[in-house]
Amino acid sequence: MSFDYPARRARVAGLLPGHGVHALLVTSPVNVRYLTGLASSNAAVLIRADGGALLVTDNRYIEAARALDVPSEEAADVAGRLAEPGTGIEAASMSVAAYLRLGDGRGDRLVPLGPVVEPLRAVKDDAELDRIRTACAITDQAFTDVCPAIAPGMTERELARLLEGRMAELGADKPAFDTIVAAGENGAVPHHAPTSRELRAGDLVTMDFGARYDGYHADMTRTVSLGLPAAWQRELYDLVAAAQRAGRYALAPGATAREVDTAARSVIEEAGHGGHFRHGLGHGVGLEIHEEPFLGPARTGRLEDRVPITVEPGVYLPGRGGVRIEDTLVTREGGPELFTKTTKELLVL
Ligand code: GLY
Ligand code: MN
Ligand code: MN
Repeated sequence: MSFDYPARRARVAGLLPGHGVHALLVTSPVNVRYLTGLASSNAAVLIRADGGALLVTDNRYIEAARALDVPSEEAADVAGRLAEPGTGIEAASMSVAAYLRLGDGRGDRLVPLGPVVEPLRAVKDDAELDRIRTACAITDQAFTDVCPAIAPGMTERELARLLEGRMAELGADKPAFDTIVAAGENGAVPHHAPTSRELRAGDLVTMDFGARYDGYHADMTRTVSLGLPAAWQRELYDLVAAAQRAGRYALAPGATAREVDTAARSVIEEAGHGGHFRHGLGHGVGLEIHEEPFLGPARTGRLEDRVPITVEPGVYLPGRGGVRIEDTLVTREGGPELFTKTTKELLVL
């Protein structure tokens, strides 16, 4: 199933009058990819309110650009080729230096805009959902395949490399992000980078990883027990699992980002661990691993239908360890579809 790039560009064009501009200079590489299909580190596309578009990239990517269904030109200074007075720019993407250089030295020939393309990207079509489903299936399978090898003596780094290697064998482009493996006390650090610490009996081991497939990301976290869990570890696990379930059940088109966060967070707060869960509940997933919408206590906005998103509460006890459980799902009328299907029972390995 392929992507309808002209339809995506037409949707952006239709938004431009509302932003008070006649054209938008798209410089975010992921937005350029979304609107044209060109994956590169140096390209820009100008979308005009009348529907016209021009893609500019340098000579490393121009052949790939010419194969696309959008007019293209080669230039070394891609944004400079397209910047015109009154053009909207993506404020989050263009550097201040480029803004000043392309404007009149104060930048005021260009119109900095907030997110224009990103809200459109949040809602996925069937072709995108297929990619994310596949990325999550690779992630699930890699976990299943690697699980039997998880044993005392293996280091966090070795386990991370095993997961990443298996995802590559199963068809991943590459890992969706730097794999997290956190054993024992390291589990208290939400984004711990794997070290040479060896796994030991009595550890909870948190693995946060995912595949990227055809540009689209998966994101899953599972925490397992090496040997029979102590009572506090089992309690912590059951608490996070209950919070994660409450978050998943709250996912629905029309729900606010804050309501979904609260559904999970209140379970952890009522158990007295509110201070040990200090990150947001989840985030959109697509061409980026973290993209709109974000779920958190201070987040605004309502979820729409067909939005892939994570639910990932955790409880982190400094010096002792932690538990996080994360799924990637997609909002649907009638209930979310679960993309990461690995069991959330506490696995004792
Ligand atoms: N793996 C990064 C995250 O869960 O957001
Ligand atoms: Mn994750
Ligand atoms: Mn995540």
